[in-house]
Amino acid sequence: MLEQKILNIKNTALGEINKALSKEQVFSLRVKYLGRKSEFNNILKNIKSLSPDEKKKIGHLANTAKKEIENEFEKAEKLIKAKSFDHKAEKIDVTIPGKKMKQGHLHPITIVQNEIEDIFSGMGFEIADGPEVETEWYNFDALNIPADHPARDAWDTFWIKPETKNKERLALRPHTSPVQIRYMQKNKPPFRIIVPGKCFRREATDAAHEHTFYQFEALVVGEDINVGHFKYIGEQFFSKFFKKDIKVRLRPSYFPFTEPSFEFDISCTVCGGKKCKSCKGNGWLEIGGCGMVNQKVFEAAGYPKGKYQGFAWGFGLERLAMMKWKIDDIRLFESGDLRFINQF
Ligand code: PHE
Repeated sequence: MLEQKILNIKNTALGEINKALSKEQVFSLRVKYLGRKSEFNNILKNIKSLSPDEKKKIGHLANTAKKEIENEFEKAEKLIKAKSFDHKAEKIDVTIPGKKMKQGHLHPITIVQNEIEDIFSGMGFEIADGPEVETEWYNFDALNIPADHPARDAWDTFWIKPETKNKERLALRPHTSPVQIRYMQKNKPPFRIIVPGKCFRREATDAAHEHTFYQFEALVVGEDINVGHFKYIGEQFFSKFFKKDIKVRLRPSYFPFTEPSFEFDISCTVCGGKKCKSCKGNGWLEIGGCGMVNQKVFEAAGYPKGKYQGFAWGFGLERLAMMKWKIDDIRLFESGDLRFINQF
């Protein structure tokens, strides 16, 4: 009885598997013939209750039948796979959307630099640049900061060991101001330039300080330039950059290369001066240093004393980017962290 039952199951199973046309059909036949609730499985489960003789005979028969069924399933699966493969290879689905190529994009500092260059080009400024590795004279002396002057301490400098003793010392420039001298040596006033570029300082880094950062210098020189021009250009630039009306405030300060010198503030970009959290209830935000060019700087660049007047400023690009996008840690810019960079 049991023997016949097993043979019957096997024969119908083989017949049906043979006719299967798809993966899904093979799957449901597998459940039907070998699944936990299948008749066949039931027989296998009950083998243990048979007499030892029968156990041996039926056990053997059942195992061979199972193997045969398994083989048939494998054959059917292979066949279906081969068929569907051929079928797909011959067909091109032109409606499948193409794979997107990952494109690079600009770093937030580059975006800000491009914007600044656009705005100043529109106001008739030229864009100048100079070396990042700079001599001691351009970095300091020509800007009226002699070697023994305590003001040098304001620029924590990365010095580079000179090759020989009598060669001039080089340093990674701690500001973009040396380009003022380089430009003036080659050009005669009137002119107006900005100098965006990388600077380096031997800083202990924190959320507001970074050893590698960007500044943009402005230098406007002519025979009749005054603080009024300077304030107006600042107001125009910041209003365009932040796309809202910005007011400018100058506070007295000190730089060896400007006289008089100022700290440059703008009205808060969030509350417009009404006092809020962003400006710490102050109404103003500090931007950077500026002033009227010191006549000693003109002299160092080879201009006659007293002939020209000009203004200059040096502002940090990161600071502007941080205000624009409300970024609270300057270290993110140089971090190489894609989670940050990919947001721009
Ligand atoms: N070079 C100064 C600094 O980095 C900023 C500055 C530039 C101040 C031009 C006045 C005029 O701190």
